Amino acid sequence: MVKTIAVLGAGTMGHGIAHAAMAAGYTTVLFDVSEGQLSTARGVVDGIVKKGVELGKVSAANAHAMFERLTTTADLATAVAHADLVIEAAPEKIDLKLQLLGDLEQLAPAAAVIASNTSALSITEMAAVLQNPGRVGGMHFFNPVHKMKLIEIVRALETTPETIETFESVARQMGKETVLIRESPGFITSRINAMIGNEAFYMLQESVASAHDIDKALKLGLNHPMGPFELVDLVGLDTRLSILQYLHRTLGEKFRPCPLLEQYVKAGRLGRKVGKGVYEY
Ligand SMILES: NC(=O)c1ccc[n+]([C@@H]2O[C@H](COP(=O)([O-])OP(=O)(O)OC[C@H]3O[C@@H](n4cnc5c(N)ncnc54)[C@H](O)[C@@H]3O)[C@@H](O)[C@H]2O)c1
Repeated sequence: MVKTIAVLGAGTMGHGIAHAAMAAGYTTVLFDVSEGQLSTARGVVDGIVKKGVELGKVSAANAHAMFERLTTTADLATAVAHADLVIEAAPEKIDLKLQLLGDLEQLAPAAAVIASNTSALSITEMAAVLQNPGRVGGMHFFNPVHKMKLIEIVRALETTPETIETFESVARQMGKETVLIRESPGFITSRINAMIGNEAFYMLQESVASAHDIDKALKLGLNHPMGPFELVDLVGLDTRLSILQYLHRTLGEKFRPCPLLEQYVKAGRLGRKVGKGVYEY
């Protein structure tokens, strides 16, 4: 049974996952190599909990108990020493993740299960650095974690049913819904999202309709909460392009990135983060 969760990486996803863990009643340890990032993360988590109190969703006593359950550390050995579940949310670089999982072999209890929050990298490759790869799989959370209901649970080649059960029970305790996926590039959501977003760029390139009208059609005609161009501006056009390049390499021709998307990226139109993407902000 999971009592203690260690979250590795306190960035965009790590702090959200740590919040979900502490709110679900787990003793939570948040690790990052950067002390500055840890204090920023603590500030963001505090803000989410305080907002919950203001909105009447969390009682003051509960908020206090949540804060008591969270500790932060820049020492990996301390972070994982008592972990039953380790959730890795470090940068999307395979070498870094392989190193981190290799360290867990030495530092984490042998019975701890390990989840990677990777968006696309091979969890089977990560699991292979451990003596027991069966205890590794994927828990793919969505941003912002406290608002998004889904976790994609990923079964790598050797992930055991017991590991999957642990992920599912923790997800339930966090109040999330799950879907189970055999490891495959882009899982479900990134693969479909990339396909829709790429097709939207092809339509724009062919002057089928304006960006505004394509967005409007998907929102009002298909009930999507955001149009594909609004969404890609939020995700970042460069990020979307690298996902498409990866899916093109692994899944074939149907994911060939649209030349217009490549052109936007070359022009520096990377989305909201730089003030201009498909739209100007
Ligand atoms: N951003 C998203 O919307 C999103 C959604 C789902 C999954 N993901 C995945 O989650 C993971 C983290 O992404 P993010 O957006 O939170 O990244 P981020 O850059 O916001 O945060 C990464 C954090 O990891 C820290 N870090 C660097 N080296 C480390 C190490 N050796 N050990 C532990 N931490 C280290 C960094 O200091 C930083 O705080 C990636 O695998 C990414 O693909 C991201």
